[in-house]
Amino acid sequence: MHGVWGNRWTFILAATGSAVGLGNIWKFPYITGENGGGAFVLVYLVCIALIGIPIMIAEVLLGRRGRMSPINSMHFVTAEANLNKAWTGIGWMGVLAGLFIMSFYSVVAGWALHYVVTLASGVFEGTTAEEAGKQFSDLLANPTMLMLWHTLFAGMTAIIVAAGVTRGLAAVAKILMPFLFLSLFILLGYGVAKGDIAAGADFLFAFRFDKLSAEAVLEALGHAFFTLSLGMGAIMAYGAYMPAHASLAKTVITVGILDTFVALIAGMAIFPIVFANPSIEPGAGPGLLFVSLPIAFGNMPGGLIFGTLFFVLVSVAAWSSAVSLIEPGVAWLVESKKLNRLNATFIFAGIAWLLGISALLSFNVLSDFTPLYLFNRTPFDFLDFITAQIMLPLGGLFIAIFVGWLMSRKILVKEMDAETHPLFDIWLIILRFVSPVLVAVVMIFALYKILFSS
Ligand code: PFF
Repeated sequence: MHGVWGNRWTFILAATGSAVGLGNIWKFPYITGENGGGAFVLVYLVCIALIGIPIMIAEVLLGRRGRMSPINSMHFVTAEANLNKAWTGIGWMGVLAGLFIMSFYSVVAGWALHYVVTLASGVFEGTTAEEAGKQFSDLLANPTMLMLWHTLFAGMTAIIVAAGVTRGLAAVAKILMPFLFLSLFILLGYGVAKGDIAAGADFLFAFRFDKLSAEAVLEALGHAFFTLSLGMGAIMAYGAYMPAHASLAKTVITVGILDTFVALIAGMAIFPIVFANPSIEPGAGPGLLFVSLPIAFGNMPGGLIFGTLFFVLVSVAAWSSAVSLIEPGVAWLVESKKLNRLNATFIFAGIAWLLGISALLSFNVLSDFTPLYLFNRTPFDFLDFITAQIMLPLGGLFIAIFVGWLMSRKILVKEMDAETHPLFDIWLIILRFVSPVLVAVVMIFALYKILFSS
């Protein structure tokens, strides 16, 4: 058992700091581009509303009930409900997923750090789409450079976790978030003035369902989990500090709306630039953010300073997310194995860093290494796939079943005492009959296709 935050706003800040990150600014636009736009966005929004939010309430509830690290919170609630110890596996799988995500997340955050320096250096002054594309492919072709930035980012994350000031980072979110919004709006302004805003909006919001495959639906579902930091204990770890009678629903909905807003604005900022530059494809892949935005920064007044600041903001957003990726594992080592925080952090960040090397080599030395046992993917794509599309949704499914079906109603009523009656009933019905069914159906269909087609 440990301390509790003064009010639910601290949770909102911490959880938003975790949720808003590369998932919103880098990943959402690029996977939307790869999956044909509008219909994918709609599925993603439906997943946030019908699966993400209800399960997030459940995950915070578990954390607050257990008031410990995710593994030990799961231990507590499992014992309280007289269930098989195997349910603690939700916590274990989460720790593993956190390590896996951290490994490739740190590589991409490294790109953002690199772009802070590149923008400041002025190489993007008056840049063209071709030049911006070349800058990015040069970076990817340079493992030493990637390693440097990956190491720096993993180190920065470890410092915060080791110092145990995870929640201090919540305060950073308070300053970061308004600036992030502001800078995205400025970029949006550039898109309106110089980009093809009509084509951008059409791409994001016109629904072309013919383009939507089962795999894309799973990717949208998985991204709903990824972007909300859901299904792996990160949100459970923060829920452990949530005040007893604060409304879970209101709190979680606030975080969900903020997170979705950042993603949509990022998309609206990037796609008008993409469509105004025929040499950039919407489906350009992981480099989409890094080749499109420098064009805007290089060609607007004050753009280099603004661009530098923008990538600082992206890096900080990634930082506050990364902290929550290794915190659940570190908290457990400290709590149960009586390890000191520094050593525990060293172990976790070290493993993630090592794994991350395979992710950064995926863009150069290992770019053709796509073995069957990685589902024909590079290590980078595999780490992303196995976490976002398998482990997180599976974690979420188990959380929904656990809270929806196995915990006693008395406890649920007690934990949700701040909720009004119809809201509680609606939440429980969705958590029991809608969220888990949708997750299961989508996973079964898409994985069947991924495993047995081609
Ligand atoms: N939600 C983060 C993002 O969108 O960038 C990524 C993430 C952080 C996923 C923490 C999972 C997690 F536990």
